[in-house]
Amino acid sequence: MIKTEIISLIENKRARVGVIGLGYVGLPLATEFAGRGFKATGFEVDENKVAEINAGRSYIGDVASELIKQSADGGRLAATTDFTQLRDCDAIIICVPTPLRKTKEPDVSYILAAAEDIKKNLRRGQLIILESTTYPGTTDEVLLPMLEETGLKLDEDFLLAFSPERVDPDNPKFKTHNIPKVVGGVTNDSTAAAAALYSEIVKEVHSVSSARVAEAAKLLENTFRAVNIGMANEMARLCYALNIDTWEVIRAAATKPFGFMPFYPGPGIGGHCIPLDPHYLSWKARQHGFDSRFIGLAEEVNSRMPEHVVQLVSDGLNQDRKAMNGARVLLLGVAYKKDIDDVRESPALSVIDRLRSKGCDVRYHDPHVPQVSFDDTHSPGGGDPLSSVELSDEEIKAADCVVIVTNHSNIDYPRVLTLAPLVVDTRNALNGDWRKESAARIIRL
Ligand SMILES: NC(=O)c1ccc[n+]([C@@H]2O[C@H](COP(=O)([O-])OP(=O)(O)OC[C@H]3O[C@@H](n4cnc5c(N)ncnc54)[C@H](O)[C@@H]3O)[C@@H](O)[C@H]2O)c1
Repeated sequence: MIKTEIISLIENKRARVGVIGLGYVGLPLATEFAGRGFKATGFEVDENKVAEINAGRSYIGDVASELIKQSADGGRLAATTDFTQLRDCDAIIICVPTPLRKTKEPDVSYILAAAEDIKKNLRRGQLIILESTTYPGTTDEVLLPMLEETGLKLDEDFLLAFSPERVDPDNPKFKTHNIPKVVGGVTNDSTAAAAALYSEIVKEVHSVSSARVAEAAKLLENTFRAVNIGMANEMARLCYALNIDTWEVIRAAATKPFGFMPFYPGPGIGGHCIPLDPHYLSWKARQHGFDSRFIGLAEEVNSRMPEHVVQLVSDGLNQDRKAMNGARVLLLGVAYKKDIDDVRESPALSVIDRLRSKGCDVRYHDPHVPQVSFDDTHSPGGGDPLSSVELSDEEIKAADCVVIVTNHSNIDYPRVLTLAPLVVDTRNALNGDWRKESAARIIRL
């Protein structure tokens, strides 16, 4: 039986594991398997990433170069652009991007490209797992027919499952090995084999009855965050209108020991997951004539936050009798969240673009992001890339307004407050007692 054969290879650590796509998800995963004694091979289209891994260097903050080097030197980890080596793998895990098209529809072209490579190299005895976030039905409606076009049969020749990734970049407490893993196979044998594989690297595996349940569970997790952040953002705008401190309100509500979970407002949502994943769910819902209204509403509220931040800057400057046009604005942080270097979908880009379109002279400081570029812009000719400036006293003093967009840890906020005339804080970064003695005028989200 194919299941028994694969599980036996896994339990004896003789299964060779292939990971397609060595990004934020795939690289930690491949490193984890290599660290547990498996032979892991990463398949990448980006030659630079392949060269870095094979030279024992990491390009992802959460993965230490020493780990890569140890595993690469020990022959347990290698990266390649040669997809014919997929044939040598017993388990293949797909970790490629799942972006949205400009129309906000799912773009599963990367999954299809990876599946095409697997199809060309599929042989009897392989376990295929999709980890990329996607709409319910992708594994059994899209991947399965492609793989069966080879003439090989599910359960008889190969196994197929979905297991969503939950990695949270830069989370000091939760890494791949201690985040419970949900596993759903297209068949029971597929679930059992995939669960056996992940049990080798993850403390807790939660098996579900189908790939669709696993796909939907991942989308529920991220939609839950998008909707609740939307609620917090709406509350922030409401509190601004009523002149109430949002953060104090949330702190007070969070003292309730049951029935409340704090979510926090911000300049908008970013990253590769929360802004995108709910669209995968609502798209699939539409195919079935269902209108997912919470998702639409959260998207509307969250996507308006950059506009609200610009309004706060404008209100602040107005009190100083200054116009937006010609004002010098310094952003602190452009990454989509604290202490990371990722600017994908970052609301900072939209804030910068909107400020520039009003004629502001925009600069930014981000210790993690040396440069940002802009694809879509509101301002004609306003899309020039920007480089991070040094956070010198002169730079802070010269700004008409400083906007805290990302609350990175290693910023000297008390110093910013002693030097800047006006600070817009979108993250409650100025939450120390020192805030009360500050000379700067502070506008909080
Ligand atoms: N980053 C996160 O925090 C996170 C968390 C949970 C789930 N996810 C999901 O995991 C998936 C991967 O996300 P990511 O953040 O790792 O993306 P990423 O962009 O960091 O990495 C994807 C990698 O795949 C490579 N790639 C693209 N097409 C390929 C192909 N055909 N063959 C081989 N390699 C290919 C790219 O070069 C890139 O290195 C997405 O579906 C995402 O939604 C991401």
